[in-house]
Amino acid sequence: MSRNPAYSPLPPWPRTDYCGKMRADDAGREVALWGWVASRRDHGGLIFIDLRDREGVVQLVFNPAHDSAAHQVADAARSEYYIAAKGKVVRRTEGTVNRELPTGEIEILVTQAEILGASQPPPFPISSGFDSAAEEIRLKYRYLDLRRPEMQRNLMRRHQALRGVRAWLDSQGFVEIETPILWRATPEGARDYLVPSRVNQGKFYALPQSPQLLKQLLMVSGFDRYYQIARCFRDEDLRANRQPEFSQIDIEMTGPRPEDIIAIAEGMMASIYEYALGITITPPFPRMPYAEAMERFGSDKPDLRFGLEINNLTPAFTGTSFKVFAEVLGRGESIYGLALPAEHQLSRRELDEMAEAIRSEKGLGLAWAKLADGNWQGPIGRHVSEAERGRAGAMAGLNQGDTLLMVAGQKDKIRPLMGDLRLQLANKFQLRRTDQLRFLWVIDFPLFEYSDEEKRLVSVNHPFTAPHPDDLDLLDSSPLAARALAYDMVLNGQEMGGGSVRIHDPQLQLKVFALLGMGREEALGKFGFLLDALSYGAPPHGGIAFGVDRIAMMVCGTDSLRDVMAFPKTQKAVDLMSGAPSEVDARQLRELSIKVAL
Ligand code: AMO
Repeated sequence: MSRNPAYSPLPPWPRTDYCGKMRADDAGREVALWGWVASRRDHGGLIFIDLRDREGVVQLVFNPAHDSAAHQVADAARSEYYIAAKGKVVRRTEGTVNRELPTGEIEILVTQAEILGASQPPPFPISSGFDSAAEEIRLKYRYLDLRRPEMQRNLMRRHQALRGVRAWLDSQGFVEIETPILWRATPEGARDYLVPSRVNQGKFYALPQSPQLLKQLLMVSGFDRYYQIARCFRDEDLRANRQPEFSQIDIEMTGPRPEDIIAIAEGMMASIYEYALGITITPPFPRMPYAEAMERFGSDKPDLRFGLEINNLTPAFTGTSFKVFAEVLGRGESIYGLALPAEHQLSRRELDEMAEAIRSEKGLGLAWAKLADGNWQGPIGRHVSEAERGRAGAMAGLNQGDTLLMVAGQKDKIRPLMGDLRLQLANKFQLRRTDQLRFLWVIDFPLFEYSDEEKRLVSVNHPFTAPHPDDLDLLDSSPLAARALAYDMVLNGQEMGGGSVRIHDPQLQLKVFALLGMGREEALGKFGFLLDALSYGAPPHGGIAFGVDRIAMMVCGTDSLRDVMAFPKTQKAVDLMSGAPSEVDARQLRELSIKVAL
């Protein structure tokens, strides 16, 4: 019976090689390839096809004089047809070598070919750069988008990065253990995704925001070095670096000091860069207390690739007669400033727009002055005395031609604002160089912060984080001053991972719950299993978790998680390809006793 290649689920012959792997050394070999038609040029007789697979493209030559059946296949093939071709690898003649292509020294003289899958004209060109189509179209046809060389490269690099993770953690004696997805709420600060239970009507599972409690329980069980590439789910406001479901490299170990976890994590990062890019990075990474990060950069994840540090200028204006500042100082608030070097000039209009944006968004004023001929030029120049100008200029490191930007108000409001301003200026003047890797550990986080919204203390990390042993007394006297044994790894201003030493004493855990406003009853109801477990010889333990997708983003040099996830969701948490989330059958809802009341 003759073969109908369009219907046969089996290929006509096995593949011997990947298209993109063919090299000059292969000249003389007979090969069998499969791939997509990336481009096709008909030279009236000779037909050239660039055939693409995940490793790259190679040029096929169809000569009607060699094999007319194969030539007819090439004649019928169109963009994105999937074809199989057999032929001989030959060196190209000197003038036709393509130095841009790794396969450019050779071509394949095809003797046999078949079309295995025909294609409609694709909705966007597959072979060109990232900006070839609007992102909605790319997401709708994600399977085609993923065919593009950039996306193939990104997902391959992500895979290599994860190989680096596994190789390192394996070498350090960590054991990979999976934990459930259908579970109950773990408080990581976001909303839960809920799954109704049919068997237990009216009850819900929560998809884990992280495996935090499960990995702690594994320490109680004795798996003293655990890791997992864990899927996590968080219903939160999405941004370029946040997805509703993402993957963590989740790590926990028994008896660590923070420096032990830091060393494991640094080794892991080095292994990731080694596997994914062949780059050597050399730990240890610098460490900075949280308090210093906020004071110098207005952020707990400072980007160290550029300066523009912020400065507390409050003392420079003690006793000022400038009314705006005097009022602020009268309320015991602060004035912070940032010196923008002379080589980066903002026009008066840009300064006014910046001030207006800060006023309308935050209700705060931006004061600015340019240092020219020893004088402050700008709206506030004449309000401040020469002595104040001198002191503030010295504190901010202001030089001739620089612009000083100042904001006055409550310290915990204005420092983050100056931190944002710092990033905006860095973006505007392109100071965030992509060829640099600036790692940093931020340590000594506070244990609690006060939530104006909830009118109570909340955890800066999560409620299972251990207080710093030197600050245990502060839990009673001034809990907001207590530090946590917590640490974050930051790379180029992005949080890559965070973790802590945990509370392993049930009494201390109950006390922290109480400080968070959770009474004994509620604590036992929600976390009884944890408190119980901690009472059965729980060893001290601690760990960390890294965002796989964020690491992949850095390794691939992109600024969107969507470029490193196979099937991501949009800003509105929608999968444009499948249409998820979608309505479900009335019957399914009835089985779950659920009524939709919109
Ligand atoms: P945390 O909440 O800091 O810690 O999360 C750890 C890391 O996960 C990544 N990440 C995300 N990536 C993509 N999209 C998101 N929505 C998202 N949210 C977080 C970040 C972050 O640094 N249980 C603790 C860890 C521990 O204490 O061991 C936890 O989950 O890179």
